[in-house]
Amino acid sequence: MPTDSKNILTTSETRRSFITKTAKIAVAVSAAPALFKHTVYGQAPSVNVVGANNKIILGVIGTGKQGSSHLKSMQPKLGEWNVKVGAVCDLYQKHLDSAQKFAGLESKDAYRDHRRLLERKDVDAILVTTVDNWHGPCTLDGLDAGKHVYCEKPMTRFAAEGWDVFDKVKSTKKVYQCGSQYTADPMYHKVAEWVKGGKLGPLVWAQGSYCRNNKKNDEWEFPVDADANPSNLDWDRWQGGAKKVPWSANAAHRYFSWHKYYDYNSGILGNLLSHRFYPLMLATGNPEFPSRVVCTGTRKVSTNREISDTTHILAEFPSGLTFVIAGTTVNEVGLPDMIRGRKATVSLSGSANQAKLQPEQLFSEEVDAEEFNDPAPYGKIENLHTNFYKCIREGGTPFCNVDLSVRASTVLALAEMSERLGVVCFFDEKTRTIRNGEGKVMPPMTYDTPVRINS
Ligand SMILES: NC(=O)c1ccc[n+]([C@@H]2O[C@H](COP(=O)([O-])OP(=O)(O)OC[C@H]3O[C@@H](n4cnc5c(N)ncnc54)[C@H](O)[C@@H]3O)[C@@H](O)[C@H]2O)c1
Repeated sequence: MPTDSKNILTTSETRRSFITKTAKIAVAVSAAPALFKHTVYGQAPSVNVVGANNKIILGVIGTGKQGSSHLKSMQPKLGEWNVKVGAVCDLYQKHLDSAQKFAGLESKDAYRDHRRLLERKDVDAILVTTVDNWHGPCTLDGLDAGKHVYCEKPMTRFAAEGWDVFDKVKSTKKVYQCGSQYTADPMYHKVAEWVKGGKLGPLVWAQGSYCRNNKKNDEWEFPVDADANPSNLDWDRWQGGAKKVPWSANAAHRYFSWHKYYDYNSGILGNLLSHRFYPLMLATGNPEFPSRVVCTGTRKVSTNREISDTTHILAEFPSGLTFVIAGTTVNEVGLPDMIRGRKATVSLSGSANQAKLQPEQLFSEEVDAEEFNDPAPYGKIENLHTNFYKCIREGGTPFCNVDLSVRASTVLALAEMSERLGVVCFFDEKTRTIRNGEGKVMPPMTYDTPVRINS
């Protein structure tokens, strides 16, 4: 042992001062990253971003309603984030033109084909806000091109594409954020902390819903823009892997009111119940793949569509937790969001941005009641963007990361299979095998899976 070290540790007096000194150094080291942090992210140490001034160049793919809404809500935050929208893409010229104009870009930065945008070396990250059937292909292509990806929910149209995205994120090590904005709300993270701290005991069942109503019975019916036609809209490409429908009035309806057709989305499951599953699964502290999923769906009120107007999911997880989730577009009274454990129950209120932990009577001596209130507005998309750019620069796990997303989207994809094929879906996460109640292996559903039930 070097003499110096021996000397330092020979008396209790010196040992104490050594410990104090070491502790001070440890505090200084752990505080160091905070000292260098700054609200202007461009001054944070760069992990993945090599561009000038550490600016992140973002390409936006899909500039319809939600893409435009992202562009608008991002606009006032771009400086703070040190992000520039450097390219936009849409296969409908009218949507592309207005996004190009809004973002102040030249026509060379506006693309009809996302693969051309991905060839741009200066683009660091992409935001995918296309129709759901393009989420998987655009995400995979983006990761292959070395881009970080923020993709709107649901993760993909079908389960197997979600597993491909999961594998690709793991192999490329790029940052992936799925666009379920509620996962950025601190209350779900607080509940996860309570669960992990053992306050609820083993989880037993969770519930939630997304329910709304509309007077004209016209949910997801959008006006057809008479200007749209195959000369300014790449209709064939838009249909992606779905069966090809020739351009017609019906095709125009499909383009604008795609939510009503199974070819392009899973209806309430992907559109509304994503917003329940991603944050509630995050709040369980340990998002799991489902072991069994059952789902029903009915379509007796809104008959002018393929998708259900009311749907109920039961999802069982290996830990024993069961989720009961409902969604409807023809009644506004939902189930309150709750997570029940053996020792306590948590109630979540989105509108109040509040989580309350209430011990079971039997465990009231052991567990204290708690309440978490967040005065900030609930479900702000900007918060998910802030987290995305922070993870690109500093590393860390995005709020709606790929591990959470793939589990939530597997539940939703199996729910669609259960509902539309009339089966119970058992899932083995190790082999990614789906079996029905008789133990028969079922291939994951895709565009051409024959459907048995359309109620
Ligand atoms: N997080 C939320 O709260 C929220 C809210 C609304 C919509 N969304 C999601 O946003 C996405 C878009 O929804 P929307 O209402 O804006 O639909 P939309 O039809 O208005 O817009 C989609 C746009 O994507 C374009 N597009 C489709 N495929 C493309 C491709 N391969 N390449 C380039 N452009 C392509 C279309 O031409 C269209 O302009 C959906 O996945 C939806 O689930 C999320």
